[in-house]
Amino acid sequence: MNLTHLSKDTLVTVVNGQLPGPTIEVTDGDSVIIHVVNKSPYNVTIHWHGVKQRLNCWADGVPMITQCPILPNHNFTYRFNVTGQERTLWWHAHVPGLRATLHGAFIIRPRHGAGSYPFPKPHREVPIIIGEWWEMDLAQVATDLSNNSLFDFNSASTINGKLGDLYNCSGVAEDGFVLEVEPGKTYLLRLINAALLMEYYFKIAGHRFTVVASDANYVNPYDTDVIAIAPGETVDALLVADARPGKYYMVAFPYQAPKPSIQGPEYITRGMIQYSSGNGAPVLLSTSNGTTGEEEGGGPSADVPIAPEMPDHNDMVTSLYFRGNLTSLRRPQLPTLVDERLFITLALGSVCRRGRVCERGSTNDESITVATLNNVSFELPAAAETPLLESHYYNTGGVDVLRELPARPPKVFNFTDRDLIPYGPKEANLEPTSKATLARRFRHGAAVDVVFQSTSLMQSESNPMHLHGHDMFVLAQGLGIYDAAKDVARYNLVNPPVKNTVLVPSLGWAAVRFVADNPGVWFMHCHFEFHLSMGMAAVFIVEDGPTADTSLHPPPADFQTCGHDESLMLQKMGIDKRRVKSEDARS
Ligand code: C2O
Repeated sequence: MNLTHLSKDTLVTVVNGQLPGPTIEVTDGDSVIIHVVNKSPYNVTIHWHGVKQRLNCWADGVPMITQCPILPNHNFTYRFNVTGQERTLWWHAHVPGLRATLHGAFIIRPRHGAGSYPFPKPHREVPIIIGEWWEMDLAQVATDLSNNSLFDFNSASTINGKLGDLYNCSGVAEDGFVLEVEPGKTYLLRLINAALLMEYYFKIAGHRFTVVASDANYVNPYDTDVIAIAPGETVDALLVADARPGKYYMVAFPYQAPKPSIQGPEYITRGMIQYSSGNGAPVLLSTSNGTTGEEEGGGPSADVPIAPEMPDHNDMVTSLYFRGNLTSLRRPQLPTLVDERLFITLALGSVCRRGRVCERGSTNDESITVATLNNVSFELPAAAETPLLESHYYNTGGVDVLRELPARPPKVFNFTDRDLIPYGPKEANLEPTSKATLARRFRHGAAVDVVFQSTSLMQSESNPMHLHGHDMFVLAQGLGIYDAAKDVARYNLVNPPVKNTVLVPSLGWAAVRFVADNPGVWFMHCHFEFHLSMGMAAVFIVEDGPTADTSLHPPPADFQTCGHDESLMLQKMGIDKRRVKSEDARS
């Protein structure tokens, strides 16, 4: 549909006519069925970000990894159970670029009602989705990123789809999101960062938050006046309306690594909270024309909203502290014996276009900037006619030929040397890299430690690393180069936060542990869209366990293949093969 912002009509792809898309609310233990009817001109899939999809990788929604893309004018039905999870997740398209407008909240209520929250039941619960307004064709944005090393930028930031009064449309301020609050009541904000490009700080003037959960896992209540949230993450925070009645801006503003890293635009967005007496009459208030509602607080702040003070656009430290203060509320079942250790560097590099030899720094046409894990950039299999999960399940050999994600980077260098940031002579010999379909296999039940190391190769961004199908225990984070000899001592093995997306700090590292107990083919990638499109990704293949209860289930009966007769045939063969296999397992 066409939306008008910043004095311009822009054609955007949305779900059910809404931006953000509809909130999906379920209860822990529910079976969920979602029919996707693709009326857009693009191939799409929908990913249920953070939903564990236990034994059910088929519903994970990653094109050519777990399913064929849903073609224009085609349908697809997602079926999955939500088990043992509660609070805030989200859903988004998992095709390049389009998740900027195809996303929404995915809320999981506890089995036993709000009375079972580990905090007093809030008066209201409100999704706050931080997003971006793009005036460009998002499919084009993604192509630019993966082919031409072009950096495109959004035109504004949004809270719940609204740009707010720092932007205007032909001189009239844009609408902002307004949250009505009653004095003394408590609100639960469900923050989601759905942006493609930026991490955000979130503040509300005159108020503090108590963070109670992140990525659908409870944390020990943490009191703060600022929330840091990276793409892919969610944060649940309590807000008590305990200020003098009036209007207060809520602000989301992007932050990023300082120069010489490339600087994205500083697009701040704001909405507001507005006190009302709660006598029932809704106060309709637009931030666009400065009208005040019929409810007035009477204080000096009633007419002029108060704005919060912001950290700096290049402040990476506040984010580091915010994350360092999170601990898990419920003691997670943390394995103490580790089966496998990976050290993964996150970097940029360059490759030559297929079939050509090129000099570094030659014309843009010849070399492409890519993003890498241990110096390899992810690409889907060249003739990707069968999604990897299908090849894996039916044992067609398709996943055996993939390049193994190395357990260490090929070269050790001063990973966080600031002199490597600018494109220049110093990083030249570290720059060449290659492309492959990177995969790593894990034995069922393996306890895996991963240290993600951000590097300064041609940038110094942080990296929100997201793992599908599993949560990770975040054991520690730090600046500089990870040093096992001293950093293992800093691991929180008691109550580490449990996350599906871990922010690896700029010029620093994060250490996580996860148990590979969910069989399937799971994407693992940076949740910055530019890093993902440029190849900062791999698949984790988790093998079946010994029993039917620990093995990937067969695909649903109506699971669509990519329309090749051959794969239909394989499916038939596979099902037979499979039956034999599980009978073996039982006997
Ligand atoms: Cu939220 Cu693979 O993504």
